[in-house]
Order: sequence, then C-alpha cells, then structure tokens
Amino acid sequence: MEERVDETVSEPPLYSWKNRWMRTSVLSLVAMTVASLLIGFVWLPSEHGDFSAEGIWASICRAAGVPKRWGPVDQVAAASRTTAVVLNRSMAEHGSDQAVGLGATVALQCTICHGVRGLTSSDAPNLAGQYPEVIIKQLDDYRRGDRVNSVMRAYAQGLTPTQVHDVAAYYAYLPRAVNPALEGGTAAPKLVQVGDAMRNIASCASCHGGRANKLGAPWLEAMPKEYLLAQLTAFATGARHNDSHGQMRNMARRLTSAETEDLATFYARRPTE
Ligand code: HEC
Ligand code: HEC
Repeated sequence: MEERVDETVSEPPLYSWKNRWMRTSVLSLVAMTVASLLIGFVWLPSEHGDFSAEGIWASICRAAGVPKRWGPVDQVAAASRTTAVVLNRSMAEHGSDQAVGLGATVALQCTICHGVRGLTSSDAPNLAGQYPEVIIKQLDDYRRGDRVNSVMRAYAQGLTPTQVHDVAAYYAYLPRAVNPALEGGTAAPKLVQVGDAMRNIASCASCHGGRANKLGAPWLEAMPKEYLLAQLTAFATGARHNDSHGQMRNMARRLTSAETEDLATFYARRPTE
C-alpha cells in the first residue's frame, strides 16, 4: 500500500534555523537593526553641525533627551557660556558710606589705568558713575574668564567678593561724565534715539540711559572712543560674548562699520566738546 506523503511533516519545525520563514525573519531583523544603527549614529549625527563624537553612550543619552551635563560647570561649559552672573536689583543699590570709603582704598590699585577719579584719557573704560551692578557683573565675568582680558582677569581674581562690592560702591559714587548732546536729546544719531526696527536694532538710549536704563547696561557717555569701538567690534565678531542672550552681539553684528564709527564717536563726546 502506497504511503501518502504529508507535506506539513516534511517542513522543519517553526523554531528551527532550517525553517525558511524563521531564517528570513531573523535575517531581516538583523538587517533592520544595522540600518537603524547606521541612520541613528552615523547619518543623522553627520547632518547635525553641532554634533561632537562622544561615544555611543552619549549618543544614546542625547537621543533619549538626557541633558548633556549635570552638576558643577566644567571648563567646556564655561567656554560656551555667555555669563554666569544673574543680575538682581540689590546689586544696583548704592553702597553705604562705609563701603564707598573702603572701596576708595581698593581702587588705589586701579587708578593707574582707570584714572584717579575714575575718568581716563587712555583706552581703558571710565568707571566714574558707572552703575554698581555693571562693575560687579563685569568683574565677575573677568574673574571666571567669560569676558576675556588677561590684565583684568588678574585684578578681578585678586579681589574678594566684599572688595568687589566696595569698589563698585566707590566708583558708582564718583560723578560721571555726561554727553551734552544726548542729554539735550536732539543731536544724537538716529540709531541712538530710535534704533532701526527693520534690522531689529533697538535704540541705544532705551537701554544705555538717555531714555531708560536696563539693569546691567553700562553708562557709555564720554567713554574713550577707542574703547567703545573695540567693544562694539568684539561683540560683532563674538570675541566678547558675556552679554546674556547675545543682546549686544545681535545688534552689533548688524551695524555697518561706518555706523559703528559714528556711534563710538558720538558716545565718546565729552562735556567740553
Ligand atoms: C593695567 C591697567 C588696568 C588696571 C590696573 C585695572 N584695569 Fe580695569 N580695565 C582695564 C582695561 C584695558 C579694561 C578693558 C578691557 C577689555 O577690553 O575688556 C578694563 C575694564 C574694566 C572694567 C569693565 C568696565 C566696563 O565698562 O565694561 C571694570 C569694571 C574694571 N576694569 C575694573 C577695574 C578695577 C576695580 C580695578 C582695580 C582693582 C582695575 N579695573 C584695574 C585696565 C586696567
Ligand atoms: C536691549 C538693551 C540694549 C540696547 C538696545 C543696546 N545695548 Fe549696548 N549693552 C546692553 C547690555 C546689557 C550691555 C552689557 C553686556 C554685558 O553684560 O557685558 C551692553 C554693552 C554695551 C557696550 C559695552 C560697554 C562697556 O562698558 O563695556 C557698548 C559699547 C554698547 N553696549 C553699545 C551700544 C550701542 C551703540 C547701542 C545702540 C546701537 C546699544 N548698545 C544698544 C544692552 C543694550
């Protein structure tokens, strides 16, 4: 008697490698995994300008949305930081008479460059009448290296936090130099008075005094012209990057060199001119 061949029995069992369905699904799973690894770790990162190869673990964490760094700020973070100073109103309070007196002693080491009464004829900035929070913030930025200047970094690192507050109180107390044209309000360049809305440049006077003062915006009037030019250029190139949210960098980048020159010339005017 002829035996009937049962087709299903001749097929190997489902979970065996000999089963072609099993083989196909395992191989396609491997192929898909390799393809997604290549896409996730090679292709997508290479399309991202800010990608830095930090190993597979960092890539997995980034893909999962884990922040790049936790805990204490290290040097890499400091290099990409604009400023670590958080301004608050109390920094803008004028110091006590005692603080002013102590600050005068601290300032003895600064007079060689910043002038006996805080007004310079060199290229260093005036400090007389500067807002106290500006002096505190800038010294803190120099100390941490967020504003780069080797001379000022050394001086800032040599001061205790109390000395920083005292010296800020002293300079804020000294009478500032004013720009007569700006106080009159008519002869100032258009950018100072109204800015340029089309280029997203707000009026300088809305932050730097003349119309309003924004916490942390320095008193600019009668500053040395070379200093103003250097700072505007440094903001434009990004060499100075301690302005929070890039507010000065964004505006300085849009100024033409003729406008930068005009603005520096205008702000640098002194009462006698
Ligand atoms: C050897 C010269 C020199 C000495 C001494 C010096 N400074 Fe300066 N200071 C400068 C120069 C130059 C700059 C501008 C640097 C820059 O381009 O960032 C500056 C900038 C500053 C600024 C920033 C001002 C602004 O408008 O942004 C402050 C605040 C300051 N100095 C405070 C001090 C204090 C306080 C001392 C004394 C403890 C001091 N400096 C000693 C040369 C000096
Ligand atoms: C939205 C407010 C704002 C406007 C508008 C603005 N500034 Fe500033 N500016 C600032 C602040 C804040 C700083 C201090 C940045 C920092 O913390 O170092 C600054 C810093 C500066 C400095 C460096 C001064 C120093 O002593 O170091 C110059 C120069 C300057 N601005 C010029 C200008 C000019 C010129 C304009 C107009 C075209 C202008 N700014 C418009 C907010 C402003």
